[in-house]
Amino acid sequence: PTRPYVIDEMISAKTIAARIEDLAREIHDAFEGTDKLVVVGLLRGSFVFIADLVRELDLPVEVDFLEASSYGDGTESSREVKIMKDLRGQIGGRDVLLVEDIVDTGFTLKHVVGLLKARKPAHMKTIALLNKQSRREVDINADWVGFEIPDEFVVGYGIDFAQRNRNLPYIGKVRFT
Ligand code: PRP
Ligand code: MN
Ligand code: MG
Repeated sequence: PTRPYVIDEMISAKTIAARIEDLAREIHDAFEGTDKLVVVGLLRGSFVFIADLVRELDLPVEVDFLEASSYGDGTESSREVKIMKDLRGQIGGRDVLLVEDIVDTGFTLKHVVGLLKARKPAHMKTIALLNKQSRREVDINADWVGFEIPDEFVVGYGIDFAQRNRNLPYIGKVRFT
């Protein structure tokens, strides 16, 4: 149902894995001594990243998920973030790391950070594998970013184009043919 396209590799699986090792070390240092870190994955896009990240994280961890959607099957943000599924656990008074695959306009991250902060976590930090700073429309940034990327439509490593290509092991950019 979309125009034909090919995917050009942009960030290899190896490069992603190496970056995640470094990020995990930084997160470990930031949360050292925590009794438990609640790592919250923002579905669906972050499912691959959170899986790799928590396995590099040498801390007591609880994993929870929240599903938000703003793009649907399109390539344009609706700028309206719908919560499709809430957390299972409580985060009040807890240490929380919110894990996002990509920050683009920023609407999704800003909305979810607001939602979770209202629940009064003890400490909350955010991490995004990818950041498209040039596309930002609202004032929000992740505390940790894996890679700054240009304004290209990317897929893979959890990220979809109309729900496809999430299973690619690398980050690629969509090129219409
Ligand atoms: C994508 C992506 C981020 C968000 C970033 O999610 O996974 O969550 O958009 O865009 P923004 O900064 O402009 O808000 P999407 O709504 O496509 O849902 P998905 O994760 O289920 O694919
Ligand atoms: Mn998403
Ligand atoms: Mg999507």
